[in-house]
Amino acid sequence: MDGVAVQRCERCPELVDSRSRIVNGVGPEDAALCFVGEAPGAQEDAEGEPFVGRSGDVLDEVLRDVGLSRADVRITNCVRCRPPDNRDPKQGELANCRGYLERELSIVDPEILVTLGKVPAEHLLDRDVAITAEAGDLVETRIGDRPQRLLLSVHPAATLYDRSQREPFEETIERAAELAGEAVGDQSRLGDY
Ligand code: URA
Repeated sequence: MDGVAVQRCERCPELVDSRSRIVNGVGPEDAALCFVGEAPGAQEDAEGEPFVGRSGDVLDEVLRDVGLSRADVRITNCVRCRPPDNRDPKQGELANCRGYLERELSIVDPEILVTLGKVPAEHLLDRDVAITAEAGDLVETRIGDRPQRLLLSVHPAATLYDRSQREPFEETIERAAELAGEAVGDQSRLGDY
């Protein structure tokens, strides 16, 4: 449990019913590279950690391929509670959880924030995103009162449904690692944590 963890929240009645627990972000509180997904799935809800199911296995593999491990990066979600039947989070749920994400990002202050999939990209950019076409794009935006460099990526699960997404996914994660590494003056390990 770190200083940005949410311990109690009952803002979304449907999610309070569907969750077993609140799934907070994990990883260093000063990580140069941060990943943000949509919401916890079944495995994440069971274990209390983001991206520990099949999507997480893909993310871990690709991080390894670029010389990083899960312990080097921050991993979080737009919504911290598992939606029923793994549906997408509703706009009101995203809005209810937004302050928690903004607080986490303001403390971590990552050099690069990678959005995993369409939902976090649209939520944080506040526009429609054609994620397959825009994946790999680096965008300057503002999140809360801070500027943020954001790199769009497909969701790791997309690589399981469509093998042709694997290579572009790997390229995006490699670029994210390079950009974050350049920013902290170490291209291979994102500096010393
Ligand atoms: N998908 C997400 O978007 N987040 C998780 O934590 C797991 C799967």
